[in-house]
Amino acid sequence: MSYPKEMQAAIKKVAATRKSRMNETYPMLSPEEKQELLNNYHPDYRDDAFRQVQVGANKGESLPHEVVDIIEARSRIEPADFSLTADKEVDVLVIGGGGGGCSAALVAAEKGAEVLQVTKLRLGDANTMMAQGGIQIADKENDSPAIHYLDVMGGGGFVNKPELVKALVMDAPKVGKWLEDLGYMFDKDEEGRMVTRHGGGTSRKRMHSARDYSGAEIMRTLRDEVQNRGIEYIEFLPAVELLLDEQERCQGAILYDLETEEYMVVRARTVILATGGFGRIHVSGFPTTNHYGATADGLVMAYRAGANLLFMDSTQFHPTGAAFPEQIVGLLITEKVRGLGAQLVNNKGEQFVYPLETRDAEASAIIRECEGRNLGITTPTGMTGVWLDSPMIDEIHGPGTLQKELPAMYRQFDRFDIDITKDPMLIFPTLHYQNGGVEIDQRGETAIENLFIAGETSGGLHGKNRLMGNSLLDVLVFGRRAGKAATERAREVSFGDSLSLKHVESFHQQLAAKGVETERVSPMLLPDYSNSNIS
Ligand code: FUM
Repeated sequence: MSYPKEMQAAIKKVAATRKSRMNETYPMLSPEEKQELLNNYHPDYRDDAFRQVQVGANKGESLPHEVVDIIEARSRIEPADFSLTADKEVDVLVIGGGGGGCSAALVAAEKGAEVLQVTKLRLGDANTMMAQGGIQIADKENDSPAIHYLDVMGGGGFVNKPELVKALVMDAPKVGKWLEDLGYMFDKDEEGRMVTRHGGGTSRKRMHSARDYSGAEIMRTLRDEVQNRGIEYIEFLPAVELLLDEQERCQGAILYDLETEEYMVVRARTVILATGGFGRIHVSGFPTTNHYGATADGLVMAYRAGANLLFMDSTQFHPTGAAFPEQIVGLLITEKVRGLGAQLVNNKGEQFVYPLETRDAEASAIIRECEGRNLGITTPTGMTGVWLDSPMIDEIHGPGTLQKELPAMYRQFDRFDIDITKDPMLIFPTLHYQNGGVEIDQRGETAIENLFIAGETSGGLHGKNRLMGNSLLDVLVFGRRAGKAATERAREVSFGDSLSLKHVESFHQQLAAKGVETERVSPMLLPDYSNSNIS
């Protein structure tokens, strides 16, 4: 399948204006223009997409319906009927098999903890694996953690928790070295220097990559390490509820075996949640770049146990999700394409936005072009999008660059007989990231004693908009920090008190008291597409 006839006329306009656009720098938005664009077109600003939370620590806040649906749902466990006899006891229970979980497990084991890592799908089935563009590390002469810090704060709208941002940028060079020592193959030039590029909202070229499978290379490295070091891990065993002790400190979790449908009670001195984000709840009906298990399980469990959520009113829509062909709608088209110089172009062949605005602004400009100005391109099945002019990459950097830098993307389109070195890609924003999450401190600890979080389940670090490449960095930095802190804490924790599910009982009572009558059960564990046209 190449582009159908009805789309080819629009493609010709992109080609016709390419030469003149090559020398055209589209102006960046002023802060006022950016705010106006967000107000008018960003899905976070649609009042009808939100409703008030009735129970729990964030009671009274307005959050997206899909988020309220999962946090105001019943547990899979009926506390009165459930026996809390532990099937297993460990020092540190790591829940999650992505970059955050593996980093945490590696450090915890290195520091002497008896670790059990459990994961809903297979080890490595996580958003880390799917990350394409890269990881931000300030390690070049013209850069510094201080400059990185300012970029992160600016990208997040200056509401980020500063101590978390400081931890992120200061640890970044160490984490880069750790990865490389473990065998990560960073892109380097002929002299052996790291190749770095811009991402949206970055003031320096700081994006380190492994072609366009940067996350898969991280997952390969970490998964090998978990397996080679003999860390115990169990697959297809998601957590469905946290366990507290009589003093409301976290002390393990109830796990659910997806194959046998049996529950398992694990008592742990400390717990690290690294279950990722909420892409698969499809906020505002958007498709998603996220892996199949991204159903916000950790967020739900921590909230029910009493944790506070930050910035859950803010969702990241990646500007460039595939809009054609139908089979890949919503899948990620990495920001690296724009980092390499490709422009966004409307149905007249015109640029309409600076290509590397922060994602919130870039996505809003695309939505404005399609929905506000009617200058998008419509596919035979009725999707509308704008062009991402990928052939510019070889024009700018020389023939062969696109295939060298973006081999996975090239192949993804080649399967459909679309050669992206010759023709542009049709794109539209897609749900990419949970900007907010459970509040943590610099060690990754939540307000619930002995419960730690790493990665997308947490909130505060990225403020209201994460920059490209800071998610891979986040999972490694806070995975490692949580692994260390949870191990140190585990040494002080004894298994004295009995295990308790009173928080679940109490949550159910609060739901009833507020008249939230629902059949919904959470964590969802897996998305249900039986009555849906989104995937
Ligand atoms: O566009 C991308 O490659 C995505 C990267 C990220 O979200 O960090």
